[in-house]
Amino acid sequence: MSKTKAISLTQYLIEQQREAELIPSQLRLLIEVVARACKRIAISVNKGALGDVLGTAGTENVQGEVQKKLDVIANEVLIEANEWGGHLAGMASEEMDDIYAVPNRYPQGEYLLLFDPLDGSSNIDVNVSIGTIFSVLKHTDGHAVDASSFLQAGSKQVAAGYCVYGPQTTLVLTVGKGVVMFTLDREQGSWVLTQDKVKIPEDTKEFAINMSNMRHWAPPVKRYIDENLAGKEGPRGKDFNMRWVASMVADVHRILTRGGVFLYPWDKREPDKPGKLRLLYEANPMSFLVEQAGGASTNGIQRILDIEPIKLHERVAVILGSKNEVERVTAYHRDPVA
Ligand code: AHG
Ligand code: MN
Ligand code: MN
Repeated sequence: MSKTKAISLTQYLIEQQREAELIPSQLRLLIEVVARACKRIAISVNKGALGDVLGTAGTENVQGEVQKKLDVIANEVLIEANEWGGHLAGMASEEMDDIYAVPNRYPQGEYLLLFDPLDGSSNIDVNVSIGTIFSVLKHTDGHAVDASSFLQAGSKQVAAGYCVYGPQTTLVLTVGKGVVMFTLDREQGSWVLTQDKVKIPEDTKEFAINMSNMRHWAPPVKRYIDENLAGKEGPRGKDFNMRWVASMVADVHRILTRGGVFLYPWDKREPDKPGKLRLLYEANPMSFLVEQAGGASTNGIQRILDIEPIKLHERVAVILGSKNEVERVTAYHRDPVA
């Protein structure tokens, strides 16, 4: 894209508001504020050891995970940036047990913001790509915001996206009309549109799964991976490659860029949990993006975006990416002898 034709995030959002009437001004403000918060988080991420942001915070979140300093910093940045603008009624985060209602001293807006402030925490200290994932819902239930306000199916999202802090800092967004990518221009301090009409190829030769859990998988997942590993000589008739970054943002970003399938399935380690990833602020926004790019996303049984959540930090099995692969894995779950 030539410099003279560069389109900024602000320009993109205003044009969407004007032409497609998809983005009311409060939603536009919300997305701009989230993008600005991501810039601040990117600065902390980049400072690393120089900014004293590495290592643990010495606390645990509601999921019983040890919080890293950057988990806490990113959470605070997102709250501080968003609470006063008048566009939100409340926020929910991986790093907060309960929801955060916008304090009474600020005007109340009509949107709800959910986020995983720092995805890929195990990669912070080893200088591997990490990110921020966000999802936007409308506050529609007519009473003061509480946890139940956030329990909406992913199909109700009005916007979703993520920012990946990698070799480049990239913001990926959908407002329900395709997927667009912006790259942070650090000299200008602005987000520049670098990819629109993002499309995931329907077929792929690349899968992403944590192979160390193989012995715990259910038979349909074991079958799918076994068949892929058998390569050209096996039932798939082609060789596969494997990638696992252990940051969902980075794995999904690769899939949006060149295709692939990502699995974090149910497994026997903790059989009562449906999966590891969280529905409301990890699986739902990523599923919205993937579907908007022509891919598919299920929990093995049903479309993730159709799941009616029953609790804020609910977990879910995730199979997403290139459509034909996701449909294959889902068919193996539905009909194990197929
Ligand atoms: P988070 O850092 O927000 O807790 O999320 C980590 C998630 C996800 O990003 C990644 O795909 C997965 O956990 C990695 O799990 P393993 O440690 O099993 O590889
Ligand atoms: Mn995460
Ligand atoms: Mn996280």
